[in-house]
Amino acid sequence: MSGRVFVVGSLNVDLVTQVERHPKPGETVLGDGLRRLAGGKGANQAVAAAAAGAEVAMFGAVGDDDGGRAYLKRLRDKGIEVVGVHTVAGQPTGHALIVVDDEAENSIVVIPGANAHAELDPRLEELGAHDVLLVQLEVPLEVVTRAARTAYDRGARAIVNMAPYAALPPDVVALADPVVVNEHEAMLLADSGAVPRSLLVTFGSKGATWDGLTLPAVVVPADEVVDTTGAGDAFCGVLAAALARDDDREVALRKALAAGAAAVRHSGAQPDPELT
Ligand code: RIB
Repeated sequence: MSGRVFVVGSLNVDLVTQVERHPKPGETVLGDGLRRLAGGKGANQAVAAAAAGAEVAMFGAVGDDDGGRAYLKRLRDKGIEVVGVHTVAGQPTGHALIVVDDEAENSIVVIPGANAHAELDPRLEELGAHDVLLVQLEVPLEVVTRAARTAYDRGARAIVNMAPYAALPPDVVALADPVVVNEHEAMLLADSGAVPRSLLVTFGSKGATWDGLTLPAVVVPADEVVDTTGAGDAFCGVLAAALARDDDREVALRKALAAGAAAVRHSGAQPDPELT
């Protein structure tokens, strides 16, 4: 029996421009175009999980504005339940300013807006033993903490993507199966002394390791890498979908690596990301 994927996380409007190279501090460079795209680690992961066939419910917050309304419609159109995405009066929908260079490397500044006002939704009490909770750290850590503890108490698997890195209570790290981090975040986690139930470290184009299981990345030729934004989110979303359908670790990790590789071939954090 397949479980559901509950994603607690951010929804952002990504404002994206392309540059030849990133500016140095104090420098001005010209950008090519400005696109308004669907983003936010939470929603990116929800969309990836849904595209992988999971039944997905999204929990978070948007502002009472055009961006928020467009985003909710977009998620509904993709079959994602958004009853748990609350509209916060007096706050804008979260935004991210994203600059992508000719090497497909990005820099991102997130303006949290409504995401900072996300609250724990009582519907998380509906999590069951077959379900998967997927969280990242762009909503208040108190919400992440309580959501993860709720999932654990209800027998559901909690996947904690510690991005962007912030320290979580040790018991929350300890219940995560797995914590998902990149190399940089893994070092910060190691320094914190907290020990996850299982640890999945991604190494970009070098693959990933999940406790004792190490798999290579799916190779994408350099000239086919368009934009790395959201590749980690695609990885996490597909991982959650695979684990919700009870795939074993190796199968789930292979699917997640394939999703991460596919994501660098398109611009924007999601496939067809234009937010209309
Ligand atoms: O992981 C990529 C995402 O980070 C972007 O979509 C941006 O909104 C930020 O949340």
